[in-house]
Amino acid sequence: MTIFHKLFNKPANTRKNLDADHEDTERAYAIIMRHANAAPMTIDTHVDPETFKRLQNRVEDTWSRLGQEDAHWSVITDEKFRKESLSSHIDQFFSMGDGDIARLDAALNRVGTSLSNIESAMDFGCGVGRLSVPMARSTGHVLGVDISAAHLREAKANVARMGCQNIELVRASSIQDIKNLPEFELVLSLIVLQHNPPPVMLEILNALCSRVKPGGYLYVQAQTYRQGYRYCATDDLADTLDKMEMHVLPQHVFLETIQGAGLTILEVTENGAAWDLSYKSQVVLARKR
Ligand SMILES: C[S@@+](CC[C@H](N)C(=O)[O-])C[C@H]1O[C@@H](n2cnc3c(N)ncnc32)[C@H](O)[C@@H]1O
Repeated sequence: MTIFHKLFNKPANTRKNLDADHEDTERAYAIIMRHANAAPMTIDTHVDPETFKRLQNRVEDTWSRLGQEDAHWSVITDEKFRKESLSSHIDQFFSMGDGDIARLDAALNRVGTSLSNIESAMDFGCGVGRLSVPMARSTGHVLGVDISAAHLREAKANVARMGCQNIELVRASSIQDIKNLPEFELVLSLIVLQHNPPPVMLEILNALCSRVKPGGYLYVQAQTYRQGYRYCATDDLADTLDKMEMHVLPQHVFLETIQGAGLTILEVTENGAAWDLSYKSQVVLARKR
């Protein structure tokens, strides 16, 4: 039983249970407060156009390679989802997507609407369709967008296997590609921005905001803090290791960018995307004015 199950499904208030509750609450409180005294991070959020292109090309190369090697595992890095064992765990993979989409619908419900009212949605960084498929069950039409052709091929196979008729998939490899997309009633992006260096992340976020219709919603996740994180583009480009990048955009930049693009922030929810408590990960629900 997790600490959260224990705290939310409390047994009767016996003395013993109250003491156990107290310990659990203290531990939960320590987790909630873990970044309250955090120091500022030094992060380059702007670079020259040539550096920007190099950073973006590297993201594309990495995800194309990951998609060819082991696409589902690259989306959720659990050994169960390696291609050798995927067939026995594919239902579990997609049920995790169901959970994310149920949370999105709950957030929309809290602000007075629901997924069933959404006619057009974009799933940015759709990967293999883990979120596009459950989202398409409740919305009119979903466009899945990704930088990696290999992920899109897997997504296409999943969409066909699950018989979804209302999903289209397209590749976008530049900011301009995103800006060329139509506007949507809902733009969703989970566990995508974090894989782009902060200057690229910021431009993608701006482009995503521009694709939300007036009155429409943005539901987007980013990591907004990690102890010891710093970002210098020159140092980053000097690092030749070919790895899955993990980046952070400071919370005030994340929120100011969304607001500056004409959206009202309705909710900011903590989320454990990195499965690592040194990170702070947040999901914003915002509405275009
Ligand atoms: C960890 S996976 C998440 C996939 C999906 N959002 C999900 O939650 O199942 C990250 C996906 O984002 C895509 N991606 C990363 N950076 C991107 C970018 N700049 N533009 C478009 N797609 C990107 C990757 O190719 C990969 O498919």
